[in-house]
Amino acid sequence: MNQTAKPLLKLFPLIAGLLGTVVLLIGLVVGILYFDHVGLQPTQVQLSEALPATSEPKSNALMDPVGMWAAPDWGTVDTEPNAEDIKYGRELIANTSEYLGPNGKVRKISNGLNCQNCHLQAGTVPLGNNYSAAKSTYPKVRGRSGKSEDIQLRINGCFQRSLNGEVLASDSKEMIAMVAYMDWLGKDVPKGEKPKGAGIYELPFLERAADPIKGKTIYERQCVTCHMIDGQGVMKPDSSGYIYPPLWGEHSYNQGAGLFRMSRFAGYVKANMPFGVTYENPILSDEEAWDVAAYVNSLDRPKRDFPNDWPDISKKPLDHPFGPYADGFSEEQHKFGPFQAIKAAAKK
Ligand code: HEC
Ligand code: HEC
Repeated sequence: MNQTAKPLLKLFPLIAGLLGTVVLLIGLVVGILYFDHVGLQPTQVQLSEALPATSEPKSNALMDPVGMWAAPDWGTVDTEPNAEDIKYGRELIANTSEYLGPNGKVRKISNGLNCQNCHLQAGTVPLGNNYSAAKSTYPKVRGRSGKSEDIQLRINGCFQRSLNGEVLASDSKEMIAMVAYMDWLGKDVPKGEKPKGAGIYELPFLERAADPIKGKTIYERQCVTCHMIDGQGVMKPDSSGYIYPPLWGEHSYNQGAGLFRMSRFAGYVKANMPFGVTYENPILSDEEAWDVAAYVNSLDRPKRDFPNDWPDISKKPLDHPFGPYADGFSEEQHKFGPFQAIKAAAKK
């Protein structure tokens, strides 16, 4: 290498460094000027245009509302020949206690609950334990009684268990009225069919047993404001019925009732509680619904023997909480789960 090139070579990094700095500065100034001029608008517009596509409101509805059963229009009831019966039937279902409760003005045969406490809005709410399938599916053979049950027997089943009370005669004015109302509700449902949204939501099973201890926390967070810390609810000032019904204790449903089965309780609560939610906007997770069911159904409530129930024990639902069973699983597991293994065994 010749001698004169050496100092130039030494200067090269310095010159390169200077050039680089100048380019950076120019870039910075141009950048500042650009953003000062156009602002951040272009990017913002892009973002807000992109929003609807990427953040479509996620529905957590338990079922697609399309095709859901809806009750006939109450405004048309007067065109029915038995309109008076239908109206009295609805009144009895909405305000059962006033007529048939502990201070009932017709008879005193039940615990103070209204049918509507569990069959919401007189049995008209989708997945709110509605009566849409009552006319179309009764009479039917049921595993619990082992025989064909007509609708009167089924209604009396709820009187004896959910309302921990006595039966109504099939030819009583009250029974005739309730049946008339249910027949009217289901008048457009073809015989043998169960409309979409009938009854109670079938909540998916958990992998584990439902946990009453976790359920207590959920109860205290989501239920106490209405059902109270002692679970006894709130009575109307004139004692004609509850504002908030009791969930356990002597005034609640007995151990033979549908809600004493975990799947019935959890499915009902998931789609309808805390009061005000519907199947379209549930707020409890599946786990919370199972756990709160475990908590409530592990507390004291009336016991009552129904010695003729389940003449064929293999017909017991897998969450029936009382043995003997046709399989080898314990009463504990039949009550709280996990249910998958029981279900798999039943399939074999
Ligand atoms: C404490 C809650 C509760 C109360 C109160 C209650 N029920 Fe029920 N009822 C249930 C449950 C749970 C079922 C079973 C639902 C299922 O298995 O899907 C049921 C089922 C029924 C059915 C059968 C519906 C069908 O499609 O198979 C009829 C009819 C019925 N109840 C009528 C009544 C009447 C009438 C009253 C008032 C006298 C009443 N219930 C009060 C909880 C209750
Ligand atoms: C905002 C008040 C409120 C809250 C909170 C609430 N409920 Fe209810 N609950 C009601 C009312 C009111 C009814 C009766 C509905 C009717 O008659 O229309 C009811 C009925 C019930 C029933 C059926 C009737 C009975 O007595 O057995 C159950 C079970 C139930 N609630 C469980 C729960 C659980 C579990 C929670 C907490 C996850 C909860 N509720 C939170 C107001 C509430």
